[in-house]
Amino acid sequence: MMSRIFSGIQPTGNLHLGNYLGAIRNWVDLQHQFESIYCVVDLHAITVPQNPAALHQATIEVTASLLAAGIDPKQAIIFNQSRVPQHAELAWIFNCVARLGWLNRMTQFKEKAGKNRENASVGLFAYPALMAADILAYKATHVPVGEDQKQHLELTRDIAGAFNAMVEEDFFPLPEPQIIGEATRVMSLRDGTSKMSKSDASDFSRINMNDDADTIVQKIRKAKTDPDVLPETAEALDDRPEARNLVTIYAALAGTDIDRVLAEYAGQGFGQFKPALADLAVAKLEPVTQAMRRYMDDTAEVIKVLDDGAERAHAIAQPIMSDIRKRLGFLGESLG
Ligand code: AMP
Ligand code: TRP
Repeated sequence: MMSRIFSGIQPTGNLHLGNYLGAIRNWVDLQHQFESIYCVVDLHAITVPQNPAALHQATIEVTASLLAAGIDPKQAIIFNQSRVPQHAELAWIFNCVARLGWLNRMTQFKEKAGKNRENASVGLFAYPALMAADILAYKATHVPVGEDQKQHLELTRDIAGAFNAMVEEDFFPLPEPQIIGEATRVMSLRDGTSKMSKSDASDFSRINMNDDADTIVQKIRKAKTDPDVLPETAEALDDRPEARNLVTIYAALAGTDIDRVLAEYAGQGFGQFKPALADLAVAKLEPVTQAMRRYMDDTAEVIKVLDDGAERAHAIAQPIMSDIRKRLGFLGESLG
């Protein structure tokens, strides 16, 4: 079967270094090797309350970041999810394929719903079925994501398998997660045991893709660390989550691995390592930040990319959805 890449990102808040190293950088590399579809998932965003003006703006900003990071809209398809109605249509069908028990196991729902579970939206609970629909509406075979999406990808495979069994045909591929690189789980700069995230209240917990050089330097200077020097082996970082995180970020930005970073910096303290990391981060992120500012000065171009992407995505998803409707016995063609 032909390979096809699909991945998604939510238009909520600033993109950060975790998004970049865990996902977007890999998307940039993969677009040259495979047909690639990258989706700004606005339907996923509204599983929690959103301000419409902010959602609109964030959709443009996230798209600008993808372009600034090097995704080429002539090569890859970039679009926002709600424009291609097949996502929502297939998600409903998958709501009827997925079992309550499968969704009950999803750790992201438990984290996001928190203590107030009774008050979470039904959409937040069904979120992984929509994600499965995103991927399978294109019969995508490979899904580059950060570590935190692994469980959702397993559910996607379960849904694809259950659907195939139901229609007695290998209709959908079982998509493979691609969790690539040194930094598949970038941690908060304030707490090495929690994930770097858009929703963390402290802006000092993350490096945003639109932070200027001074801000990046300051955030790294203030990052939580320990008083010890860097060790010689990666294992010695196991019980030093903050130190491990900074070394991992360095390795990922430099395009090397943890062992090689330690070979260079073993015996040095954070007084020496942090400035080196800050220099590297600024050197790697500054060109992306600058490109992003240029795109934000000309949002008409960004919107054109999304228009064009939506049409190309729709042209792929529509005939697949039509086949699905036939398999299920739905009468007539969808008007979407
Ligand atoms: P989200 O911002 O939740 O829409 O995530 C978009 C992509 O970034 C997904 O592939 C995530 O797995 C990835 N991602 C988000 N946070 C991190 C992180 N802290 N480390 C690595 N990858 C991440
Ligand atoms: N759930 C993903 C996240 O929060 C975003 C996403 C939505 C996605 N649909 C997808 C990722 C399809 C990969 C494939 O990061």
